[in-house]
Amino acid sequence: MFSDATSSILSLKLSICLFLSAVSVTLFGGASLIAFIYYLDQRKAKKRKVLQRAAVGKMAIGGPFSLITHEKKPITDKDFLGQWLLIYFGFTHCPDICPEELEKLSDITEMLNKQKTKQKYPFQPIFVSVDPERDTPELVSKYIKDYSPHFIGLTGTRDQVAEMCKHYRVYFSQGPKIGDDYIVDHAIIMYLINPNGEFVDYYGRNKNAKEVAYAIEQHMNAFKELNK
Ligand code: NI
Repeated sequence: MFSDATSSILSLKLSICLFLSAVSVTLFGGASLIAFIYYLDQRKAKKRKVLQRAAVGKMAIGGPFSLITHEKKPITDKDFLGQWLLIYFGFTHCPDICPEELEKLSDITEMLNKQKTKQKYPFQPIFVSVDPERDTPELVSKYIKDYSPHFIGLTGTRDQVAEMCKHYRVYFSQGPKIGDDYIVDHAIIMYLINPNGEFVDYYGRNKNAKEVAYAIEQHMNAFKELNK
């Protein structure tokens, strides 16, 4: 009688033990599975976000343009395919904002040229004049060289510049003349274009060089991942 009780307690203990290990295996397996599904989901969401952003970009900003470089060569958007572009619109007579932003564009260029991940497509910073009346290729050439040897400066006829600004939704307006001088009020935005010629992202004055360079590097890496 006594020994029967002991053995039934023993077998009960054994069953509890087996039950608990079964539970823990199930729990552990379940947790791993959930973690794995979560990981896949995150990856998918990230990819989807990049794709969605690219799709939105395609609809909204950018398009064909035909301008003249600071070296007096005619150039179109097609000539820039296969490069990452960071495009800034401004004018050489701008008293303060353009110099600040071009300094920033130069810093961004230096940072990206030093990045560790090797990129297949080169990075090209571009300055587009919104003051074609005064900004001749010679003047643009002299101006951009004060900031970076890597910049390409673009200008053109009033219609050519207006056409590009329309596609990029860049607002600009010539202020009243005081003698020969005037200010051109313009949007302060940098546009990132991918090697397929598609708009990817934009950066305003609130972002510093480091933040912009970091964001661009992320886009470059995502683009590389999607185009493997
Ligand atoms: Ni300006």
